[in-house]
Amino acid sequence: MLEVENIHTYYDLSHILFKVSLEVSKGEIVCLLGRNGAGKSTTMRSIMGLTPPREGVIRFKGEDITGQKPYLNARRGIGYVPDNRRVFADLTVGENLEISERKSQDGKGWNKERVYDFFPPLKEIDSRKAGFLSGGEQQMLTIGRALMTNPELLLLDEPTEGLAPLMVKMLEEQIARLRDTGLTVLLAEQNQQVALGLSSRAYVIDNGVIRYHGTIGELKADEAVRKKYLLI
Ligand SMILES: Nc1ncnc2c1ncn2[C@@H]1O[C@H](COP(=O)(O)OP(=O)(O)OP(=O)(O)O)[C@@H](O)[C@H]1O
Ligand SMILES: [Mg+2]
Repeated sequence: MLEVENIHTYYDLSHILFKVSLEVSKGEIVCLLGRNGAGKSTTMRSIMGLTPPREGVIRFKGEDITGQKPYLNARRGIGYVPDNRRVFADLTVGENLEISERKSQDGKGWNKERVYDFFPPLKEIDSRKAGFLSGGEQQMLTIGRALMTNPELLLLDEPTEGLAPLMVKMLEEQIARLRDTGLTVLLAEQNQQVALGLSSRAYVIDNGVIRYHGTIGELKADEAVRKKYLLI
């Protein structure tokens, strides 16, 4: 579904990603683990086309999408939940969802009702202005908004960061349910527990370089890698 091949990404003169490669197959949850500043968000932004790589290739469903504009990637089926949880503060929760709707071709995809079934707390606050939500509510809304575009691949950038333990648990369960609907997910996380619990495979990034990739079982068994590149 997604192939990232040897990409190099820069912010102006700063060279951030070095020869990053990764693959996500249909129906998988793959995590990208790494400490603060390791390059997780930059990898997500590179894929989405927000900060296109200067070298390397990105393919989505076999097609070269390197450097393609974000809105075109969204139209093509890539959903993106950035790390900043930005919502339209002056719009209600319901309006935030409605303006993101991109109907699925078969008509069986996500709509507002289905998002509310999925995140029941959102239904309760349908008419509340999104500027007045808690962190957890905002995160449900940003994920809900991405689902409204009926993506085939979802890029989730640290969805549980800074949230209370109960909310983290709830999101974990819901992300697992997304996988069960057949959605493909690339999950950037610092929180190993969340990432390892949800994913089938992991990539570890450090200083803009992929240092390790393997199955979750392999990573769990590899204390040396986790000690070196991740917070235990
Ligand atoms: N807009 C920017 N301009 C210049 N440098 C940036 C910019 N955004 C990020 N960086 C730098 O790029 C590097 C990678 O940052 P990135 O945000 O990708 O890391 P991250 O793994 O997502 O970290 P975090 O866990 O804190 O979200 C860091 O050294 C960071 O300081
Ligand atoms: Mg980040």
